[in-house]
Amino acid sequence: MGCHGGFSLDDATRRSWYNPEAILQNLQAGMVFMDIGCGDGFFTILAAKKVGSNGKVYAVDTDASAIERLKQKAKTEDLKNITAKAGKAEDTVFCTQCADFVFYSMDLHDFADPAKVLQNAKQMIKPNGRLIDLDWKKIDMPFGPPVSIRFSEEKAAGLMRSAGFTVADVRDAGPYHYAVTAKP
Ligand SMILES: C[S@@+](CC[C@H](N)C(=O)[O-])C[C@H]1O[C@@H](n2cnc3c(N)ncnc32)[C@H](O)[C@@H]1O
Repeated sequence: MGCHGGFSLDDATRRSWYNPEAILQNLQAGMVFMDIGCGDGFFTILAAKKVGSNGKVYAVDTDASAIERLKQKAKTEDLKNITAKAGKAEDTVFCTQCADFVFYSMDLHDFADPAKVLQNAKQMIKPNGRLIDLDWKKIDMPFGPPVSIRFSEEKAAGLMRSAGFTVADVRDAGPYHYAVTAKP
């Protein structure tokens, strides 16, 4: 799990940063959730449990080994509502106007072309869907990615507006992260 700024990210560490259930609080049974840059699927698995057998979760990451770990976790948890693939978010539109939520967890700043990834989200999201961008605050702290590559809330919101989204909410998600919510 080398993507997390040079330290191993276990579930307890993540839960000491923010409450993942609160971040997914509006995700309901039967909904469609897209985890873009899903890593090994911490949020993918949580979302799959929340949307249940009548819902669907799509997940993509460039790291094929992370996708394999995610698939193993899904198998262990007997979750059959996840479609996960190795690939670039820039090349991924899973389906059109089909997503209740498109979600980026700590990765919008990692994408080679975040504007293209957001355009893809605009295509995937339902007219009443929501985009959620959880990411690192652009402030010094002893862990996480270098401050120089982080996006401020203002930068993330600006990218979303440029892709045609309306920013609906910007809030803290614990001491180290923020969450920006946008609608199409
Ligand atoms: C900091 S990790 C976050 C992983 C996951 N969202 C989580 O919360 O555990 C960033 C992830 O983005 C993925 N990534 C980077 N660039 C990508 C791209 N262009 N398309 C898809 N995934 C990408 C990396 O492989 C990595 O798994």
